[in-house]
Amino acid sequence: MQGNDDEFKKITEDLYKKNLDLFNANRQFSLLQELYQIIVSTLTFGDIANKFINTIIGDLDFYAGAVFFKIRDKEILSLYGVSTQKPNVLTESLGKSAQKDIPITEINNIVIKAFKEQKVQTGNSLKDVLLPFISSVDVDILSNATSVKSMVVFPISFGTQPLGAFVVFLRQVVTDLSEFEYAILGRCATVFGVAIDRLMIYQSLQDANQKLIDLDKQKDEFLSMAAHELRAPMTAIKGYISMIVEGDTGEIPEKARGYLADAGSVTDRLIRLVNNMLNVSRIEEGRLVYQVEQVNLSTVAQSVFNQFRPEAERKQLEYKLEIPQALRDKVEVDPDRVQEVVGNLVSNAIKYTEKGFVKIILSQASDQAVRFEVADSGPGISAEEQSKLFGKFYRAESSVGKTTGTGLGLYISKLLVEKFSGKIGLTSEVGKGSIFWVELPLVVAGQKPQTSA
Ligand SMILES: Nc1ncnc2c1ncn2[C@@H]1O[C@H](COP(=O)(O)OP(=O)(O)O)[C@@H](O)[C@H]1O
Ligand SMILES: [Mg+2]
Repeated sequence: MQGNDDEFKKITEDLYKKNLDLFNANRQFSLLQELYQIIVSTLTFGDIANKFINTIIGDLDFYAGAVFFKIRDKEILSLYGVSTQKPNVLTESLGKSAQKDIPITEINNIVIKAFKEQKVQTGNSLKDVLLPFISSVDVDILSNATSVKSMVVFPISFGTQPLGAFVVFLRQVVTDLSEFEYAILGRCATVFGVAIDRLMIYQSLQDANQKLIDLDKQKDEFLSMAAHELRAPMTAIKGYISMIVEGDTGEIPEKARGYLADAGSVTDRLIRLVNNMLNVSRIEEGRLVYQVEQVNLSTVAQSVFNQFRPEAERKQLEYKLEIPQALRDKVEVDPDRVQEVVGNLVSNAIKYTEKGFVKIILSQASDQAVRFEVADSGPGISAEEQSKLFGKFYRAESSVGKTTGTGLGLYISKLLVEKFSGKIGLTSEVGKGSIFWVELPLVVAGQKPQTSA
């Protein structure tokens, strides 16, 4: 019978042990799971430290815990988190402590030692951990008031980079810590390392991002200022040129007239460019004032068409404007802005087309909309680039270096067209020219003009 009893006892012990292993594995799994959950939802060092140490101390039922990190280039470890779920004299005085740093030179402190040597350290006097950042007298008082018997300090690192350490305060002596507890604290230290590393990357990305935002703003301000300063003198030049051309200064030789006309259209181009630059920030910030009224789109098209004739002729392009009879084309827009849009499309077509034609064609898009198209026999644009064309500062690969431009024209045109509830787009194929089009809603009969928006 004795034999059977022994065997039975052995089986029960075995089972019990297996059961305990399973139980511990389960505990470990769920603790690590909790920690990973914290990682993905936490974005500051203080938060990570507090949540981690509370979870660890709570789950494993230790007396208390504290977390120290070395962040940035200072030669100190700073207290970033203290367990608070089960408050006691120790956690309270740690939480209240004004001084939170331990200099790396304090080699008697086991937090520093664990950090520097990257090895687990143990101690049995609170002084091993709390000196010098809590005074010797206060540590003595604390020691009497708590039931802490020992401490274990686990280093936190990522790869070969030491990042900090965390302390577990125990009610028992260190040797009473079970193998399981020891192992799981080691795992927690590893997860800690991953968390901190992730946060450091996140923070440096944020810093870099903030710098970019600042730079972007400076660039916008500079652009706006430069454009503003350029506009007045250019308008003056244009004024003088047209006065001379119109004969205000007397008869001028035919040749000079030709040069002056060229100078005039170049100045127009400059003014357009500067206006685009100025308008970008105004539109983006909602500062642009619109003078909305009812106009016939064909009037605007005719005026733009005339304005660009000299440039088209200079490039010896076939240049045409087609307006069908009985076109309904009354739209409610800011005519100056729509003139800018049509101007941008026509000037692009002329600029990018070396030979062949540029045609402006108006048509009835539907019962409710009028459409104008600018068709050219230029280089065309690949499908891939078409989608980016209306983005800020975008210029097609084939244009960069060959022609000058800001890449703002189409971006602004799109903003303006959408402001007037219209649509803008293009069809194009490399080598086969492009058609840029805009559709604007027609004024419904009987509709009263609105005041400017
Ligand atoms: N008619 C066109 N034919 C070919 N490419 C064009 C045409 N219109 C525009 N593009 C391309 O689209 C880009 C963006 O145009 P835009 O915003 O007006 O800027 P910019 O003319 O100052 O470069 C141009 O750089 C050019 O590469
Ligand atoms: Mg352009």
